[in-house]
Amino acid sequence: MTNFKQAIGVFVVASTVAMGAVADPVDDTLVLNEETTIVTRTAAPAHVADALDEVMSGWLFRGTETRAMQADDFDNPGMIFVEQAEDTWNTAEGTEGKSCADCHGASDEMAGVRPTFPKWNDAAEEVFTLEMQINDCRENRMGAEKWKYTGGDMVNMTALLASVSRGMPVDVAIDGPAQSTWEDGKELYYTRTGQLELSCANCHEDSYGLMIRADHLSQGQINGFPVYRLKNTKLNAVHDRFKGCIRDTRAETYSPGSPEFVALELYVASRGNGLSVEGPAVRN
Ligand code: HEC
Ligand code: HEC
Repeated sequence: MTNFKQAIGVFVVASTVAMGAVADPVDDTLVLNEETTIVTRTAAPAHVADALDEVMSGWLFRGTETRAMQADDFDNPGMIFVEQAEDTWNTAEGTEGKSCADCHGASDEMAGVRPTFPKWNDAAEEVFTLEMQINDCRENRMGAEKWKYTGGDMVNMTALLASVSRGMPVDVAIDGPAQSTWEDGKELYYTRTGQLELSCANCHEDSYGLMIRADHLSQGQINGFPVYRLKNTKLNAVHDRFKGCIRDTRAETYSPGSPEFVALELYVASRGNGLSVEGPAVRN
């Protein structure tokens, strides 16, 4: 069996960037618009306490400039997409001639919703991500076409719904009817994939703090999603990030919206219970 440190070494060499030393996350506090303090590190929730003492936002692993961009909505390029979604929120569409606002009121009435997703949906008898819920409203309440799972309209809308919950603690339920999905997600998190035989945990639990590919490895938390990446200058959905990370291990990956990624999202979200919602965060 491949030793994971060795495998990360292979990964780093293959990426032609040297592996640096371990660098601690910064000692810094994120205050949004000089008013909302964001919890970027906190005691690990009970269900991950055997693996981590503390859970930390990816924000703590980014450089000074990137961190500063997220602290002010005027500097956060992700907020442009939030504004676009605000227009969509108020626009009627579909055979019912209704907008999101017609049923839900102002978008900030949705404060507190993002932190609870993914969550069990009784009618559908499955765990719903926020994207699935939005498409369910579009199809079954508006008579409108579903949006592509990680397409622009969808990722913008998830950014709007995250933005109105910023500062609230992630709080997904892992018991009751969601438990078996959560367990599936946990199994995926610890499964080694690809030629490099690396699991999410090998990088984001065992090795966070390492510098790989000139990148400071974080705990891979998702409280900041969707994230605006300086690398591709757009908002990135959680499932696209999962896909990218699995590809990096040179493995076949699942598709966005697949049951595997829904389960993985629930599990990864639960590892961040207690961290503040940050989306849209800024990352490299
Ligand atoms: C015709 C009314 C209607 C419209 C239009 C509508 N929804 Fe909904 N929505 C509902 C109802 C009813 C629920 C709760 C019942 C359920 O779980 O399906 C809901 C639930 C939700 C939830 C979950 C709320 C929670 O507390 O868990 C989200 C998020 C949401 N809608 C987003 C949207 C978005 C985004 C749009 C526009 C693209 C939209 N909805 C359009 C009726 C609507
Ligand atoms: C070979 C190491 C490696 C593996 C394996 C890996 N990742 Fe990553 N991941 C990275 C790197 C490098 C980054 C970019 C730096 C950072 O944010 O940690 C990253 C970023 C992320 C982020 C973005 C965090 C943020 O705050 O923006 C998430 C979420 C994530 N990974 C989840 C996963 C999941 C889930 C798995 C398993 C399916 C996984 N990763 C497997 C290396 C890895």
